[in-house]
Amino acid sequence: MMITDKFNRPLRDLRISVTDRCNFRCAYCMPAEVFGEGYRFLPREELLSFEEITRLTQILVRLGAVKLRLTGGEPLVRQDLEKLVAMLAPIDGVDDLALTTNAYFLPQKAEALREAGLQRVTVSLDSLDDEVFQRMNGRRASVDKVLEGIAAAEQVGFAPIKINTVVQRGVNDHTIVDLARYARERGWIIRFIEYMDVGTMNGWKMDDVVSAKEIVARIDAELPLEPIERNYRSEVARRYRYRDGSGEIGLITSVTQPFCGDCSRMRLSPEGSLFTCLFASEGTDLRGPMRDGASDDDLEAIIRNTWGSRIDRYSEERSEMTTPRREKVQMYHIGG
Ligand code: GTP
Ligand code: 5AD
Ligand code: SF4
Ligand code: SF4
Repeated sequence: MMITDKFNRPLRDLRISVTDRCNFRCAYCMPAEVFGEGYRFLPREELLSFEEITRLTQILVRLGAVKLRLTGGEPLVRQDLEKLVAMLAPIDGVDDLALTTNAYFLPQKAEALREAGLQRVTVSLDSLDDEVFQRMNGRRASVDKVLEGIAAAEQVGFAPIKINTVVQRGVNDHTIVDLARYARERGWIIRFIEYMDVGTMNGWKMDDVVSAKEIVARIDAELPLEPIERNYRSEVARRYRYRDGSGEIGLITSVTQPFCGDCSRMRLSPEGSLFTCLFASEGTDLRGPMRDGASDDDLEAIIRNTWGSRIDRYSEERSEMTTPRREKVQMYHIGG
């Protein structure tokens, strides 16, 4: 049962944010000045339970979602996440079940996640230079801590590991070649992400963006690269491989070369709203109807209607806009 939106784009991916909390304070996502001691995150009763998430996922999978990704905030701060993994993994029709994490809790969690049926892990790591990395994450963790988390994931059989690196001019861009080299030596697939104007809190400026073209040029100068084909149509990353055959990297070019035309991603927020775009200003509430006794068919109708009326193409529109959109969901809320 495939559903398509107004631009004929199918629903293929579901990104499930399980919490709005995180133990890091990356300045581009949850700046410490805003998310201080007194910041009020969602209270527990507002979060979907694992049973509720599983129920909605089953419906979304029937409607075409074959790739699932757990995100946050930091998904591993949600207690017993492996229990949710164990509930999602057996759903008929799920081809891929992945997790995006900052790796901090992987030493404790990797094994249980693997046993529960998680297939892949993507780790956010913005620099190998400890001073640079700590400045970026609000001094919540050292590079070594993240490397320990990655090692734990590899030890229990998650391979190849993917790394996400957000590149900000004047912040970590001078460290990307080192990171690329390090990842290549270990067989990790690293993806460099153009710094995006997600949310409303990071004070984004175009000047802070290092384009994918420039990132490729800088790496290519030391480690020669060539472009390769996409793995599948709606793949977010553009791929390059090292000419000597020693691995690949990806570029996420949301700012300079938007990829909305093939966007098949639906996002479910921790409190049960559906967002049809990373830059959406509003979601569609499913928790309310669900807790008021809606049947699966009722929920399916809401989802069909939400996807069926979807016209989002924010990243393509960005370049045409004179004033950027003001009302946007926060990145930490729907997990990238
Ligand atoms: P794979 O299944 O491993 O290929 O993962 P993926 O391509 O879905 O990668 P991941 O979820 O790690 O996404 C990488 C980053 O790309 C995210 O953290 C976001 O920053 C960005 N991104 C992902 N999806 C979108 C999207 O739909 N729009 C925009 N603008 N950026 C996105
Ligand atoms: N621009 C680009 N990527 C971002 N992420 C968070 N905020 C931004 C932003 N403003 C990335 C994180 C993580 C993923 C979930 O999203 O680094 O890898
Ligand atoms: Fe946490 Fe990831 Fe946001 Fe950093 S980018 S604050 S690790 S959710
Ligand atoms: Fe999809 Fe919105 Fe990102 Fe475009 S900006 S790729 S529509 S999530």
